[in-house]
Amino acid sequence: MAKPDIAVARTVAALREAVLSWRTRRERVGLVPTMGAIHEGHLALVRAARGRCERVVASLFVNPKQFAPSEDFAAYPRGEAADLAAFESAGVDLVFMPTVAAMYPPGFATAVEIGGVSEGLDGAHRPGHFAGVATVVAKLLLQSLPDAAYFGEKDYQQLMVVRRLAKDLDIPVRILGVATVREADGLALSSRNAYLSPEERRIAPVLYRVLCESALSLTRDPDAVAAVLERGIAQLRAGGFAVDYLELRGAEDLVAMSRLSGPARLLAAVRIGRTRLIDNVAVAPAQAHGQI
Ligand code: PAJ
Repeated sequence: MAKPDIAVARTVAALREAVLSWRTRRERVGLVPTMGAIHEGHLALVRAARGRCERVVASLFVNPKQFAPSEDFAAYPRGEAADLAAFESAGVDLVFMPTVAAMYPPGFATAVEIGGVSEGLDGAHRPGHFAGVATVVAKLLLQSLPDAAYFGEKDYQQLMVVRRLAKDLDIPVRILGVATVREADGLALSSRNAYLSPEERRIAPVLYRVLCESALSLTRDPDAVAAVLERGIAQLRAGGFAVDYLELRGAEDLVAMSRLSGPARLLAAVRIGRTRLIDNVAVAPAQAHGQI
């Protein structure tokens, strides 16, 4: 592979210098935060950013603070050359790639804790995870001061946490969500799919299938939330997963819903072998028939 010649900033000062030169020319700057192992899901965020910003910065930083001690920080897939080449071909102008020591120098003592939307779902199953995400995203937003920052709906709770963060701390940035990119069989693209054995990979699309079937059942019978979730969990278990959760939440506030009474999101996390998969789909109440 030829060595990519995309611009890389390894320090906050270098990042700020590049962004400042663009902003003084009135070019809009879009930020796409990632942890690398770049796939088409990440590149969809880059393309969305390209669509409305003259300049796109992608960050590549495997953030130790969002991994619990038992999780896969050390094993998280890393491949710098391939990542830089993918960013370059998708039209990224600058990759921000700080070291852990640059992000969290000795003495670093701040954490950003978001209530409400961080609670339950992944917040309950991954203690400290969203504080780690919110802390690093707050830093990335303040380091780059972009006009807009792009996050995938694949990590729907994360998207809501980041929206809350920007709003509550008055960070002047638009937080934009991008639809989940899937394999042909429905499996959401994820860096962690690389951990799946061939047999697990064969089973993995059951997650999206159960989400879609359950969403359809809820649209047909908005009062049957408990029964639909129970059946969905049973289907996931029968498919070969251990189920962390399958829950219906309000699309904006992520408050649990006992009946489908407005725009909602059906969210799930499952485990298969050593891999944890998360996914979600939108669920909307059916339009009333016979109205003009
Ligand atoms: P990472 O898992 O690398 O994901 C980076 C961004 O890509 C996130 O906004 C995520 O939602 C989005 N993404 C991942 N898979 C996707 C898919 N199949 N379709 C659409 N978008 C997808 O999420 C993180 O990193 C980190 O928590 C981060 C925000 C960078 C903070 O460290």
